[in-house]
Amino acid sequence: MPPGLPPRAAATAPLPSYREDDASYAGSPGGLWDLSNNEISLPPLPRVREILRRESGQVHLYPDPRARFLVDALSTHFAVDRESILVGPGSAGVLQQLLLTLCGPGDDVLYATPGFDAYPLLIATSAARGIPVPLTAAGDHDLDRMRAGITANTRVVILCSPHNPTGKSLSPSELGEFLVGLPPGVITIIDQAYVEFDEAIDPQDLELLHRHADVVLLRTFSKAYGLAGLRVGYALAAPPVVARARKTAIPFSVTRGAEQTAIASLREGDALRHRTAHIREERERLFRLLSAAGHAPLPSRGNFLWIPLGPRSASFAEESARAGVKVRAFPGHGVRVTVGDENAHRLLLSVARGFGRADG
Ligand SMILES: Cc1ncc(COP(=O)(O)O)c(C=O)c1O
Repeated sequence: MPPGLPPRAAATAPLPSYREDDASYAGSPGGLWDLSNNEISLPPLPRVREILRRESGQVHLYPDPRARFLVDALSTHFAVDRESILVGPGSAGVLQQLLLTLCGPGDDVLYATPGFDAYPLLIATSAARGIPVPLTAAGDHDLDRMRAGITANTRVVILCSPHNPTGKSLSPSELGEFLVGLPPGVITIIDQAYVEFDEAIDPQDLELLHRHADVVLLRTFSKAYGLAGLRVGYALAAPPVVARARKTAIPFSVTRGAEQTAIASLREGDALRHRTAHIREERERLFRLLSAAGHAPLPSRGNFLWIPLGPRSASFAEESARAGVKVRAFPGHGVRVTVGDENAHRLLLSVARGFGRADG
């Protein structure tokens, strides 16, 4: 530990801040199609615009610090007790609250890599030690290796399904098998930021949560619901976990606009299913076209595709940017492409056709 730093600051000291190295990140980079953020490319639902217009006259007021109307709406939507629901400023904010509550110095948190790059930072913020476990060559969680990596110090395991960046999803039976083998007291946080895109999962089915007391389901309104800019997410977990994590919340961190639009979005089930079906169709079309261009994207359950380009990932991203499309490179591993506007796909495919295969 660097001298003079308290454990939490010391744990973050070696890490860059979130996307510090991403020079062009500033919302949407001018002149570029942005397929790098896994945002939805469709306009907000009509009700969302209406609510935001109404809420714009209320910005001098603090929101409800507990976002109780949203908690009520989620409680009805999922038929779970209010005490099992934690809302916060995006699922990243909720994850931070959970990690601050669940771990500290001397604790380990396992997670798959490559993965969502906020994990190492949020783990370090809790002063726990992050233990990255490489994905298999096929882009799946290496559950055997994760299980083998659990020690007496392990407090939390983070699984992500569908996984960012590969789009691979863990089946309920894989998850169930993993969970029954865990020592008591190890909490598994299943990050389901993209679950609404996964055709094999019913997002309202909470069997995993009901069967396993040490499971936390982490969800967001940022992705399928299209509210990334409003910052609202939630977790479903055992009441004692929720009660403790609530105490780490930054006061008033879920705004009224976020709360009200999230509630309205929950009522738009048909519109949501229509959108996710459309995005899945576009994803499959892009998958076929990238495959026809000689690449080997992985089958995905998210709103994005992973092209395992290995050492050529960074140059693919640079070439795409020169052609006018921003994609997300994970240097040495692959490139993640958000399913987006078809004009952006056209430009991307022209790069992909010229670039050839990773192993070619
Ligand atoms: C796997 C995963 N989890 C969580 C998040 C955070 O989403 P938010 O904080 O907007 O809910 C993201 C964002 O990209 C993500 O990819």
